[in-house]
Amino acid sequence: MAQDSEKADLLRNEREGVYWQPFTANRLLRANMEARTLVSAKGAYYTTSEGNKVFDTLSGLWCTPLGHAHPRIVEAVRKQAETLDFAPCFQLTHPGAISLAERIADLAPQEMNHVFFANSGSEAVDTALKVALGYHRIKGAGNRFRMIGRERGYHGVGFGGMSVGGIVSNRKMFAAGMMPGVDHLRHTYEPQHMAFTRGQPTWGTHRAEDLVRLVTLHDASTIAAVIVEPVQGSTGVIVPPVGYLQRLREICTANGILLIFDEVITGFGRMGENFGAQRFGVTPDIITFAKAVTNGIVPMGGVIVTDEIYNTFMTGPENAIEFCHGYTYSGHPMAAAVGHVVLDVMREEGLVARVRELEPVLEDAIHSLKDLDVIADIRNIGLTAGIDFKPVDGKPGARGLALFEAGLRNGLLLRCTGDTVSFGPPFISTAQELRDMVSTLRKLISQMG
Ligand SMILES: Cc1ncc(COP(=O)(O)O)c(C=O)c1O
Repeated sequence: MAQDSEKADLLRNEREGVYWQPFTANRLLRANMEARTLVSAKGAYYTTSEGNKVFDTLSGLWCTPLGHAHPRIVEAVRKQAETLDFAPCFQLTHPGAISLAERIADLAPQEMNHVFFANSGSEAVDTALKVALGYHRIKGAGNRFRMIGRERGYHGVGFGGMSVGGIVSNRKMFAAGMMPGVDHLRHTYEPQHMAFTRGQPTWGTHRAEDLVRLVTLHDASTIAAVIVEPVQGSTGVIVPPVGYLQRLREICTANGILLIFDEVITGFGRMGENFGAQRFGVTPDIITFAKAVTNGIVPMGGVIVTDEIYNTFMTGPENAIEFCHGYTYSGHPMAAAVGHVVLDVMREEGLVARVRELEPVLEDAIHSLKDLDVIADIRNIGLTAGIDFKPVDGKPGARGLALFEAGLRNGLLLRCTGDTVSFGPPFISTAQELRDMVSTLRKLISQMG
């Protein structure tokens, strides 16, 4: 109990606002601190400072598919700290990063054999955009500087990522800092044509033709790359229409434009395949990854590129640095060690196949909520799902917030943004846990009115 009173003291004595939290309504959080303080985690559950055990419905922030406190990860962290805790990867190297790059490349589509490490999704995206600019410049096409993103896209918070991103609230405060030459495709989400679709909608393939329009407007010779999430995760699991990604690929290929898949959420099994690229049968030129590669335990991100891109950079004098880009912690030994264990566990426990088994369980369970009046849409793909609530008149976001708070006291840690709830449960979840999650949801939604 000594521990409990220490926790209480900590919460009471916190200097107001000393910790300025990311993507948080800080003042609201401070007013509800106890319920929202996480003190421990094991398997698929967190425990809050009020002692509530809550099911981790989004795997942290889409990043802990193997669950928390995995004994093999704990052991790998300890062992690596004793052996090689940090190694600069500028002009030096270490075996863990090399072998992890090899294993990641083996999981990627065939012609993608080269991995560059960063430490987060945002860094991975900015790295990808710089690879695209550098690639064209080396090829003598430095006038290809434009980037095409998509409305509702989330590509992190770096200046590059926010510029190609398509979430208004993440853009408007920083409008003056946007990268030049960025344009956006329309998003593909039109509920009147696709509400309550299971898996990929059949409506919306034609939205890929927006890219033809932008190529006509700007001319292909000015466009470096198109970046899209195969499934838009952060704006509530927007699933690509059948054939949409294929069509983007065709247009990019026909116009010498690089296609970047931001797979920070969809990579490493979430779609029931190693990457969304394989799930949707489309090979991009660059894949970004982060999150699940280390089960969220030690930050890591990166990009995977084709042989064509890598070989283009590997020209010029041999003593010259080919890509003047990188981070102090690129290829960090601790992250690499954890990445190896994550890939071992995924393979040995067949977790990607398990996602395929759990996908119809989640789909059936989540769509069973369709009869609830307050729900405007439900969608799903892989081990992900999204629910939109009809907003309360004059109070957008109120339903999402009420549900989030009710969840914390009733066994569910929910990810609510506005009136949308996103789900990405751990791969280690049982079918029963997914069904229980949805039963609890039904109860909470019904009580909420
Ligand atoms: C598709 C995508 N790209 C980039 C990011 C940014 O990742 P990070 O928060 O690690 O910088 C995210 C985060 O959710 C993401 O979903």
